[in-house]
Amino acid sequence: MNTLTKLALGLMGQLHPQPAVGSATTRTSLPAPRRSGGLPLMEALRKRESQREFAPQALRKQTLSDLLWAAAGINRPALGGRTAPSAMNAQEVLLYVALPQGLFRYEPGAHELQLAAATDVRRVTGYQDFVDTAPLDLVYVADHARMRLVPAASRDSYAHAAAGAMAQNVYLYCASAGLATVIRAWFDRHALAQAMGLGTDQQLLLAQTVGLPKDPASG
Ligand SMILES: Cc1cc2nc3c(=O)[nH]c(=O)nc-3n(C[C@H](O)[C@H](O)[C@H](O)COP(=O)(O)O)c2cc1C
Repeated sequence: MNTLTKLALGLMGQLHPQPAVGSATTRTSLPAPRRSGGLPLMEALRKRESQREFAPQALRKQTLSDLLWAAAGINRPALGGRTAPSAMNAQEVLLYVALPQGLFRYEPGAHELQLAAATDVRRVTGYQDFVDTAPLDLVYVADHARMRLVPAASRDSYAHAAAGAMAQNVYLYCASAGLATVIRAWFDRHALAQAMGLGTDQQLLLAQTVGLPKDPASG
């Protein structure tokens, strides 16, 4: 669906998800993430960029596992520490994964996907057309219930900062793995919150599309 159509549907309150492809299970386990290898950090930084053209193929399960671990995984099990920082270690940013099979929440403890909505919400995650057909769109959501110890005036900016750190982890992983990605803030907040069934404590922060590059030479 093109951007103008999305803007018009959004104005009418009619920008909705599509039916999911197939039937998803409540919990989907992921293979253990590969916690070594990849490009040297300085090379990944040299290659980091935003791309907006994606091939439609699904990512392999191992790639999805590695990607989600890079974004929000537990890298210090003894402490429950994450790959990205959060103010006062509140770990308030929830990571959702919009796939053709449904919308899932990444659960770092079990390293698994939990079904959040049995619909394909990809096209609601942004006004740009590529978000509809790219194999996955990540959505970063602040859970304000986890920020009770953070001063109220700082919660919004702290959550955005934490989501930005996670998004940069994804950028670097994608640079290393030859994937395309772009972080995005241009989406219909009302339509997306509704499509995701978010509660009053949950605040949409950012979205991020990931996939194989349409032109592999650009990856
Ligand atoms: C907070 C934020 C919001 C952004 N929102 C969008 C967006 O909605 N759509 C988009 O295509 N790119 C978006 N971008 C990506 C920027 O356009 C991109 O990072 C910038 O053009 C620099 O390009 P580079 O990432 O390749 O260096 C956003 C970036 C940031 C940091």
